[in-house]
Amino acid sequence: MKRVDDFRLRFGNKELVPIVLGGMGVDISTAELALECARLGGVGHISDAMVPSVSDRRFHTKFIANKTKLYKYNVESSDKSLIHFDLGQLAEATRMHVGRTMEAKRGDGMIFVNCMEKLTMNGPRETLRVRLASALDAGVDGITLSAGLHLGSFGLMEDHPRFRDAKLGIIVSSVRALQLFLRKSARLERLPDYVVVEGPLAGGHLGFGIDDWAKYDLRTIVTEVQAHLAAEQLDIPVIPAGGVFTGSDAVSYLETGSAAVQVATRFTVTQECGLPAKVKQEYFRAREEDIEVNTISPTGYPMRMLKNSPAIGAGGRPNCEAYGYLLDASGNCSYIDAYNREVLAHPDAKKISVMDKTCLCTHMRAYDCWTCGHYTYRLKDTTHRNDDGSYRVLSAEHVFQDYQFSTDHRIALPA
Ligand SMILES: Cc1cc2nc3c(=O)[nH]c(=O)nc-3n(C[C@H](O)[C@H](O)[C@H](O)COP(=O)(O)O)c2cc1C
Repeated sequence: MKRVDDFRLRFGNKELVPIVLGGMGVDISTAELALECARLGGVGHISDAMVPSVSDRRFHTKFIANKTKLYKYNVESSDKSLIHFDLGQLAEATRMHVGRTMEAKRGDGMIFVNCMEKLTMNGPRETLRVRLASALDAGVDGITLSAGLHLGSFGLMEDHPRFRDAKLGIIVSSVRALQLFLRKSARLERLPDYVVVEGPLAGGHLGFGIDDWAKYDLRTIVTEVQAHLAAEQLDIPVIPAGGVFTGSDAVSYLETGSAAVQVATRFTVTQECGLPAKVKQEYFRAREEDIEVNTISPTGYPMRMLKNSPAIGAGGRPNCEAYGYLLDASGNCSYIDAYNREVLAHPDAKKISVMDKTCLCTHMRAYDCWTCGHYTYRLKDTTHRNDDGSYRVLSAEHVFQDYQFSTDHRIALPA
């Protein structure tokens, strides 16, 4: 019976354990967690979502305080179009987060950064260009483009000296999205080095509609993507993601031509994961009926989360002066509209509730939008219970090696 360790992910001459820790913003897949996966021979993703804020926490910089001070005058205004990111500071924060992670890397694995296009930051092209270039400047091994079609993203990097040597990949949820991307990248004579195919059971934002996500399944999409690449005679590693919960799930993909698997949910309950200890217990406790896919994210993508996430129904004032990562090219965000509508409807209320949208920046930063994969309800079966009823948090090494060496859909409990 095969184990994940019988397979290797190959990038040129480099061979890796075919386990990729998916990016989990905002700093849920911490440098510490990604570094463990790299140390063990796989690929670990950090995320560049809200990187100035992550830098403030990690390195005690003052990016958020400075930006808030600069735009304080605008707090009462519903027009956020004047709020812009200082591109120099964005570059500095990215270089610090990525660069320090790369300096700490040990072992044979790789560190990639997850870069979401939907973080439009009231200046989609300029800010994305800076994020991509600074991650490359800081020596990241690779960049995974996510949450968007990224039709212009390779073009934004094409003049960078590392454009052809760094590993660059894209997350898609359909053959169609892949076709569009490949058509664009062919023009630059630069194909992606890997394609992550993310199905509907993943955590975070989903690349499917709210009404039809359940009709899709990962295996079918992976088969379609493999058939398309074969027909085009393109030899690009395919990496399925979303609902790969056991080593045996992973093997079933590796045996049918996938190059690796991307996993995340099992790592949300590890010591190295950025979620606060209390939140990890919420993930452990969750039952299947406690998880939903909803449309409260202002990005427009459906998102999976625990139903008891404090972010659901919260009605705080939009915090774009401090954050503003979801402001579109004209400075709008659908949470601002939803919030203003509720304020108008309840002029005398001290506290309002907004049910249809959430201030995602605020709540992701505070770790109270509890996004998670579909199989979160199985996490309780991956550990022991302590005497007080809480669940024992795992080490990233334990989870990684369980994927790597387990067979028969067994999940090793911690010693
Ligand atoms: C808590 C959490 C946060 C996530 N955040 C992101 C993100 O910021 N960007 C992204 O592209 N994918 C994100 N994902 C998706 C993962 O990177 C990964 O592709 C997927 O969850 C794998 O499926 P699994 O969780 O069933 O193992 C997130 C997943 C989880 C569980």
